[in-house]
Amino acid sequence: MEKTLIILKPDTVQRGMAGRIITRFEEKGFQIAAMKLMKIDKGLAEKHYGVHKDKPFYPKLLEYITSSPVVVMVLQANNAIAVSRKMMGATFGSNAEPGTIRGDFGLSNSFNLIHGSDSPEAAEFEIGLYFGAGDLIEYNKAIMPWIYDHSGSKPE
Ligand code: RTP
Ligand code: MG
Repeated sequence: MEKTLIILKPDTVQRGMAGRIITRFEEKGFQIAAMKLMKIDKGLAEKHYGVHKDKPFYPKLLEYITSSPVVVMVLQANNAIAVSRKMMGATFGSNAEPGTIRGDFGLSNSFNLIHGSDSPEAAEFEIGLYFGAGDLIEYNKAIMPWIYDHSGSKPE
């Protein structure tokens, strides 16, 4: 199953929203493969957001993501990247659709609660930034036959 890197950003942890957002992914059927609370330092933030280094918002983005602890998770599911990005909604809560995490929980045009990898290549790179191979835990959840239809050759 596909894996994605999710970060519950400083505003989520400070607002006490981490549990509610994790619950949304659990209720959707995602499986948690790894999870930790940590403070992102400047060097790690520069690696993670290197693709944005020439954007005008880059300095503020580094300040924001390093300002307070975050919860970092690897979540897995069929189409984990596309499904989690849909659940997150548009980049800022001010214009994200109601029903999405950003649309339901945020108003800011700067703080936006959550990060999710946007491609398989980004997911592989980002998971490697935050976790070692031994940190990802494979396990069977008894509910899985009711999350996906297992009657065919692969879970659907
Ligand atoms: P993310 O990477 O954090 O999941 O968010 P995203 O794909 O929705 O947005 P992206 O374009 O990749 O931007 C990365 C983060 O930079 C900040 N940002 N600020 N002021 C601005 O115009 C602006 N644009 C982006 C946000 O924190 C965004 O999540
Ligand atoms: Mg992005």
